[in-house]
Order: sequence, then structure tokens, then C-alpha cells
Amino acid sequence: MFEKWPTPFGLVRFGVAPDHPEVKAVTSDFHKVAENIKFYGNTEVGRDVSLDALRDAYDGVVIACGASVERKLRIPGENLEGVFHARKFVGWYNGEPLQNVEMPQNPDVVIIGHGNVALDCARVLKTDLSNTDASRSAVPKLGTANRVSVVGRRGATQAAFTIKELREIAPITGLDRSEFGDTEASLRELEISKPKKRKRELLESLQGSEIRLRFLLKPVEFRGKGRVESVLFEKCELEGEPGRQIAVGAGTFEEIPANLVLCAIGYLSNVPGFGIVPRLDHVGGRVVGHPRLYCAGWCKRGPSGIVGTNVADAKETVASILEDLEGGGNDTTPAKFIQLPASSTTWDDWLRIDRHERDLGSEIGAPRVKLVDISDMLRVARHT
Ligand SMILES: Cc1cc2nc3c(=O)[nH]c(=O)nc-3n(C[C@H](O)[C@H](O)[C@H](O)COP(=O)(O)OP(=O)(O)OC[C@H]3O[C@@H](n4cnc5c(N)ncnc54)[C@H](O)[C@@H]3O)c2cc1C
Ligand SMILES: NC(=O)c1ccc[n+]([C@@H]2O[C@H](COP(=O)([O-])OP(=O)(O)OC[C@H]3O[C@@H](n4cnc5c(N)ncnc54)[C@H](OP(=O)(O)O)[C@@H]3O)[C@@H](O)[C@H]2O)c1
Repeated sequence: MFEKWPTPFGLVRFGVAPDHPEVKAVTSDFHKVAENIKFYGNTEVGRDVSLDALRDAYDGVVIACGASVERKLRIPGENLEGVFHARKFVGWYNGEPLQNVEMPQNPDVVIIGHGNVALDCARVLKTDLSNTDASRSAVPKLGTANRVSVVGRRGATQAAFTIKELREIAPITGLDRSEFGDTEASLRELEISKPKKRKRELLESLQGSEIRLRFLLKPVEFRGKGRVESVLFEKCELEGEPGRQIAVGAGTFEEIPANLVLCAIGYLSNVPGFGIVPRLDHVGGRVVGHPRLYCAGWCKRGPSGIVGTNVADAKETVASILEDLEGGGNDTTPAKFIQLPASSTTWDDWLRIDRHERDLGSEIGAPRVKLVDISDMLRVARHT
């Protein structure tokens, strides 16, 4: 396994929210897997070792690089200070190297998107995370937000967030039923989907004053001089068949003040050898047109699904590999053929970083204090 960071676990370390330790606990399963594989950390495919070199050395190569590129809205003002993609914000509070977000004092926040990433961001903006593994530079800032509005372009029935995550942001406020987008098609969608009906019942039962959920508003411009001051939205109506309704601008507008904006509108994949793509073209995990090259996870399916979704996905890919290898692979030691940088880390290096982070955490009552600087990680890793 070749991993660009010195540490393993991808979005389980750098995406899953710090107040979801039960999800992060899946790393203990990964520790068991690691006993049977070789781990080369701090080794980016495409930078430190080429995909072609890997394909020459191994019988099969699986690309499982996730989706770490920010999707853009491509509207005016997107480059204003204070406008971030959720990827950067999430990476920052989770201690991903090289991510930094300057947060204003008690910010007024607009979050664009109605997926679970948007709700994660809203929740951590209103939650004290000092007893978690959140980055120590983020902890004093999190939980301090003033107003938080989570704004989606479609209606309540079409919102991508799930029931558990919706419950976690309660109490919410300012629900306006006229904004739910209850077209005949939406009512039909509710009627035929039990989870959507349950989600609606929950939504209607939530009361309070913390987080505002807004619907039927699509962003058209970020406004401000240097720093963002507001977001201009066009009000929308829903059009289309049940399950395929789209938000269509209605020609009226609303401006919501904000000095911090998080765009939680999805991701693209940066795949070595393929560039930036929504996902890889594959059949059963076999990358089309590239024999013995496979894919799994978000770069295979696109940026959707929880950790568990990747299990069935990986099984399909592994079945394809086993089928293709029926004649048997060769048993050469690949490392013989691959020139690795001196700064590559091993699994034992990770175990030293892990122990060090846990020790730091135990001093302050947190599960761990993450090292954020790669040079610090390498120092701890090499201190045998
Ligand atoms: C903010 C957020 C919160 C989430 N919360 C939850 C949750 O609470 N519960 C849940 O079940 N699911 C959650 N998910 C979904 C879950 O994280 C994903 O389903 C899962 O991580 C996808 O796995 P993956 O292996 O495809 O990608 P990733 O987890 O992103 O792993 C890809 C790995 O490839 C590495 N990599 C990328 N490019 C290269 C390269 N060129 N060379 C070497 N290495 C490379 C990356 O560093 C990374 O370690 C969340 C997702 C996000 C974005
Ligand atoms: N706790 C958890 O289990 C957890 C936490 C975080 C993430 N995840 C999972 O990770 C995956 C990714 O989550 P996500 O939130 O990034 O993606 P998502 O669920 O696909 O949500 C993306 C949101 O962005 C909106 N959007 C996209 N393009 C837009 C545009 N141009 N303008 C305005 N809005 C736009 C979408 O609206 P439309 O629907 O109108 O396109 C949707 O509301 C999901 O499967 C999620 O469940 C799980």
C-alpha cells in the first residue's frame, strides 16, 4: 500500500468528524489488515513513484486514492477571503497537513450544500471538541460560531443528508415550510420512500435556535471587498419527475450575511496517470482500457457513500483481480524494482507516531493529539 501521507487511514483520519470516534474505531480493523501487507507511507504515486513503475513491478495495481479535489461553484466572488471548500475546513479541524483556515471571531457562517459533510461542518462550528482528536489549533475556534445557515438548492425531500446526522444538529431553527419545495412530485417522493418520510417527520419536530436549514436557494454570487460579507442566492422552484427534480431559478433573490462560507458541494478525484476526473471508467473494478489496473472506493464510484459502502465495492474489485490472476501471479519482491524515496515510512514508523500521539492525548484527556507537521511525524517515526 502506497500512501501519500506518513499516516494511514485516509478520510477516517482526515474526514470523519472528531466527535464520531465510533466511526474512527474502524482503524482497528485496518490494523489487522496491515499485519499482512507492506505499507509505504509518505510516498505519493505520481510524485515519488510512477504508476507505470508500479504496474511493471506488480501483477495488479488498485487505485484507491479517494476524491480529494474541491469541486467549484464557478460563480463570482469564489476567491474572496473567507470562502472555503468544506474539504479545506474539514482537513484543518482534523489535523491534515498543509491545511489552514483563518476563522473570524464568532463568525456568521453560510454553508452551501445539503449533504452530510455540510451537517458535519455545521455541527462542529457549534460544538466544543476539546476532548476529541480535533487539531489543537482548531479546537479553540470550533464551537464559537454565531449564526450558521445551511443552504440547499433543492427542497427538504431532496436533501442528501441522512437521519442520524440531521438528529445530531438539533436543535435547528427558522424552518419555513413554504421553502420545503412540496411540489406534487415531492409529495409522491415522500409517499414512496419510508426513509424520506421519517426524515421529514424528524425535520418537522426540530425546534430551537442554533442552526438554520434553508431550502430552494442556489448561490449566484459571493459579495464583499477582499473578504466575503454576504452570499447572494436566487430563490428556486422544483421541476421534474419524482426522483429527478431539479432546482430552477425563479428570478427573485435573497442575500445572507456571512464572514465565513463553506462550500460542501462534493469532490473530484485526482488520479495518478488520469488527472482530475469525477470517477474512473471501470467494469467491475477493472479500469477500462488498462489491463491489470483496478480501482476501489470514491475514485471508482464518485464521492459518495460511507465507510461501509467501500466494503462491498472492494470485494467486487478483489473478485475481478482473483479472476484475472487465475493463472497465478509471480512471487517477486516488488520493492526490488521500485526506487523509494528515503523519506518513505513503514508501518512500524506509523505505530511509533500513533503511540506518540496517544501519549500526548492522555496528558490532556483527548484520545490523541495529532501531529500536523510532516517533519514532526518523520522525527517521531525515526526515533526508534
Ligand atoms: C468530511 C467527511 C466526513 C465523513 N464522515 C463519515 C462518517 O462519519 N461515517 C462514514 O461511514 N463515512 C464518512 N465519510 C465517508 C468516508 O470517509 C468515505 O466513504 C471513505 O473514506 C472513502 O474511502 P476511499 O478509500 O475511497 O478514500 P479515502 O479515505 O480518501 O482514502 C484515499 C487515500 O489515498 C491517498 N492518496 C490519494 N492520492 C494518492 C497518491 N497519488 N499516492 C498515494 N496515496 C494517495 C489519500 O491520502 C488517502 O489516504 C466521510 C467523508 C467525508 C469527506
Ligand atoms: N456522518 C456520515 O456518515 C457522513 C459524514 C460526511 C459525509 N458522509 C458521506 O460522504 C459522501 C459525500 O458527502 P457530501 O456531503 O460531500 O456529498 P453529497 O451527499 O453528494 O451532498 C452534496 C450537496 O451539494 C449540493 N450541490 C452540488 N452541487 C451544487 C451546486 N452547484 N450548487 C449548490 N449545491 C450543490 C447537492 O445538492 P443537489 O442534491 O441538489 O445536487 C447536495 O446537497 C456522502 O455519501 C455522505 O453521506 C457521511
